[in-house]
Amino acid sequence: MNSKKAPFPETEDEAIPRQHSGPSLAKLLNQRLSRRHLLRGGAAVALSAGLPIPLSAANSTLSSLGFGEIPHGLDTQLHVPEGYQSQVLLRWGDPLFSDSPVFNPAQQTAAAQQRQFGYNCDFIAFMPLPADKRNHQRGLLCVSHEYSSSRMFAHSPRLSAETRTGVELASHGHSVVEIRLQRAAWTVVTNSPYNRRISPLDTWMRLAGPAAGHPRLRTMADPGGTRVLGTLNNCAGGTTPWGTVLICEENFQAYFGGIATEHSEQDNYERYGIGPRHRYRWARFHPRFDLAQEPREPNRFGWVVEIDPYDASSMPVKRTALGRFKHESATVALAPDGRVVVYSGDDQAFEYLYKFVSHGRYAAGADTGRLLDEGVLHVARFNEDGGIQWLPLIYGRGPLSKENGFASQAEVLIETRRAADLLGATPMDRPEGISLQPDNGRIYLALTKNHARAPWQRNGANPHAVNRYGHILEIIPPGEDADHATTEAHWEIFALGGEGANNLPELGPAGWFACPDNLACDARGRLWIASDGATSASGIADSLWACDTLGPGRALSRHFLRAPKSAEVTGPCFSPDQRTLFLSIQHPGGGWPDFNPGMPARPAVVAIQRRDGGKIGD
Ligand code: FEO
Ligand code: CA
Ligand code: CA
Repeated sequence: MNSKKAPFPETEDEAIPRQHSGPSLAKLLNQRLSRRHLLRGGAAVALSAGLPIPLSAANSTLSSLGFGEIPHGLDTQLHVPEGYQSQVLLRWGDPLFSDSPVFNPAQQTAAAQQRQFGYNCDFIAFMPLPADKRNHQRGLLCVSHEYSSSRMFAHSPRLSAETRTGVELASHGHSVVEIRLQRAAWTVVTNSPYNRRISPLDTWMRLAGPAAGHPRLRTMADPGGTRVLGTLNNCAGGTTPWGTVLICEENFQAYFGGIATEHSEQDNYERYGIGPRHRYRWARFHPRFDLAQEPREPNRFGWVVEIDPYDASSMPVKRTALGRFKHESATVALAPDGRVVVYSGDDQAFEYLYKFVSHGRYAAGADTGRLLDEGVLHVARFNEDGGIQWLPLIYGRGPLSKENGFASQAEVLIETRRAADLLGATPMDRPEGISLQPDNGRIYLALTKNHARAPWQRNGANPHAVNRYGHILEIIPPGEDADHATTEAHWEIFALGGEGANNLPELGPAGWFACPDNLACDARGRLWIASDGATSASGIADSLWACDTLGPGRALSRHFLRAPKSAEVTGPCFSPDQRTLFLSIQHPGGGWPDFNPGMPARPAVVAIQRRDGGKIGD
């Protein structure tokens, strides 16, 4: 789901302003290219000497990738490379339980939707289970459902507004469902005791951490401020080493209507975009979404939620220590001393990148219940010299004081954005997916685009004015053992979106990408890049690309998968053996995947495999 803040008028002016003090884009790119050529050794020498190397031959020699690139295009089908196959595994409305009603789009109800796979699938985690007696691979597919859409009701014009609202609520949240690999195909186990639907309609959650119980989180329905009904707009997410799933509340502002009379929250609402521009009409039937009746309900959203997928009766927990903003991704890394670090972006134009560092240390088998409740949230300042300073958001330190309206750490967290403003964090071009490279601990951050950046607002890490195609940053923690817990790091521009942007002669004709959103690293450390918005930016379908992160194929992206038109690609997730890639195809058009006139197009999770059973990408 896109969100934009446009505090400044859009401009087409790409000229480099005199007052811009950072390195020019040309200089940055030249530095990058010289590093890449050094890394590539002989092949790069041949290229720089002007020797003719056919594009495809050069690409296949330099890269570790073993698949043939698919062309750009735009149609109603999903395309994968030769030698690969895709299986539609779970569509909106598919049954998750033995007693789930058959999906009927003309007569959908909230009760039915609560027993069925939700809408607009996004983040995916595959949480392994022991193989069954026949040695079939098993796992729990954990899938977030980001938001509902009027497209859901294209085949049900007679549904009342109240019924629609109930269906919308029930279609949000998260699904946990057991899947099993049988005869090279994944099947859904509808009678599994692990299966559950989590939704804002009926799933209670516990608030934990410094903001739990704070008066600004108390409502008429929850006078203690510690229990909240459901989760909203769950976009990218993450997993923890202790087997839980982190889901992120992104555009939570869209759901609250009515006129607030509690003026003490006005600035807070404004900073998060809560108010007159709400997208949903839920307040009409559910008073908690009405600001006039429950003015503090929005403070109970915008958090990271931890779910134990192995216990369908467990209560999800909102971890307030990780801050309140439009979270996209909660990517977990372990520091060498065992502290837990969670990276998360605030996906809106000119918002920030954050990381939480736990006080406690992770040890396998030890209690992990408070690891995400006690620690320090930091926000990133990207310096022009390639350094990053992680600025701690601690009440009482620097400007985070009573003079600036903060009375406690809880208030710093409730108004995370304002606290980060005061610290001087670097406004980014919409931080989206974040991935950890497992071999060397580097972090990749997708900045999807930012049309509103004016020339004078550019900086080294966000070098484009009117950034239409986005870019990907690489964050390098210090030390050979990649210490994620320190307050220093380095950044590089890994790749720029847009045709010809990286000046890579070895790139295949469809190797350039646009509008990177979700990222995933595979076990070989390769980066997989999913896009959202490539069609409006560049006229190509949203897609999935892959590239090496190190060696001669570094940043040499290759086009792997093309989504049906109108869809974005989200949630890339590999099975532990790397032989299946799960992907969410969100908001498809053209009747995909049923191509049945009686059925709307349906968001769905697909499973991609090699026909010969080999590892994806090799
Ligand atoms: Fe839901 Fe930031 O994409
Ligand atoms: Ca997006
Ligand atoms: Ca996203």
